[in-house]
Amino acid sequence: MQEAEPQQGLWTALQQRGVSRREFLQFCTAVTIAMAMPIRYATRVAAALESTTRPALVWLEFQDCAGNTESALRASHPSVGDVILDLVSWNYHETIMAPSGAAAEKSLQDTISKHKGQYLVVVEGSIPLADDGVYCTIGGRSAIDIAKEVCGNAYATIALGTCATFGGIPAAAGGLTGAVGVDAAIPGLRLVNLSACPANGANLVATIVHYLTFHELPATDDLRRPLFAHGELIHDHCPRRAHYDAGQFVEEWGDGGHQKGWCLYKMGCKGPDTNYNCPQIQWNDGTNWPIGVGHGCLGCAQPAFWDRMTPFYRTLPGVPGFGVETTAQEVGIGLVGAVGALTAAHAAGSVIRMRGNAKATGKVAPAPKVVEAPKGQEPRA
Ligand code: SF4
Ligand code: F3S
Repeated sequence: MQEAEPQQGLWTALQQRGVSRREFLQFCTAVTIAMAMPIRYATRVAAALESTTRPALVWLEFQDCAGNTESALRASHPSVGDVILDLVSWNYHETIMAPSGAAAEKSLQDTISKHKGQYLVVVEGSIPLADDGVYCTIGGRSAIDIAKEVCGNAYATIALGTCATFGGIPAAAGGLTGAVGVDAAIPGLRLVNLSACPANGANLVATIVHYLTFHELPATDDLRRPLFAHGELIHDHCPRRAHYDAGQFVEEWGDGGHQKGWCLYKMGCKGPDTNYNCPQIQWNDGTNWPIGVGHGCLGCAQPAFWDRMTPFYRTLPGVPGFGVETTAQEVGIGLVGAVGALTAAHAAGSVIRMRGNAKATGKVAPAPKVVEAPKGQEPRA
């Protein structure tokens, strides 16, 4: 982990790393697109990043697999690799920092005292609350104890990944640790939830750039997720959507439809019930994404996905035209209710896009209201 002086401007730091002006502007353009803003805002992003004083960052890991760290550090799209490391001053990150033991804890305490109310926190992993938090301790302190101090003294907290946002796999049925996300563990924080398993590092970069450019966090939905990343359904931007609309479905792995790139709905794809920008930003430097390589979406960006979206290869019930009544009895009314409101949610799509555009003006958009579901089904946010 390379550290630079937090007072040093981003552009100065990048120049020292050999990043060209052209690469920097390419980054600013790409991240503006990732924030779902009009391209003209790229110049404003560039101007802000050139002069910004980089905030200190504390990165906490609790009940996790470090997958979000991996995702963030591999996030070369839409960023220039060095830009990610230089957007903030990485003062504490247990996985990649050089100090250990008491020296590491001193780095944490020094950041809290020197940058109180100004630093950012990224939390990766869920927080166990059962049995006084004994299932996750660091330096003799429980995760909840550490999180209360570190997040409580920060400017803002970014919960990264489905474990930190909604509890994730540790909170799935049968879990014994009382795992919850940051919002449930410490209500009232200034917080952004970046869900998915793992969260896409490009969305983390876009969130930080939004803060550095507009001096506020991005507009969010009622799950506190940025609208630019979670405002629309995967199903509505999927390149296989034309096949869905035409009734062309993969019926079996490797069949003719699979080889032709047809819709994966019948193979269990959860794209019709998942809000995420995977189709637009993709993964691994924009190389591809799950549906692009022929596998259905697992719904990893949604709350309780491990319980609600499994079995992963069972057809998602309740999508119009596919026998709501039958699958409702087989799979459960909760999931059916959420998906059955798709028609209404689609109708609200233009409203969500308008909210997304509203943030380009610098105004915070209101959280989406609950969409009324068809009679007899549960409402959906
Ligand atoms: Fe794409 Fe899945 Fe929707 Fe088919 S069901 S169009 S594969 S998101
Ligand atoms: Fe997750 Fe579905 Fe994207 S499984 S990574 S939200 S395609």
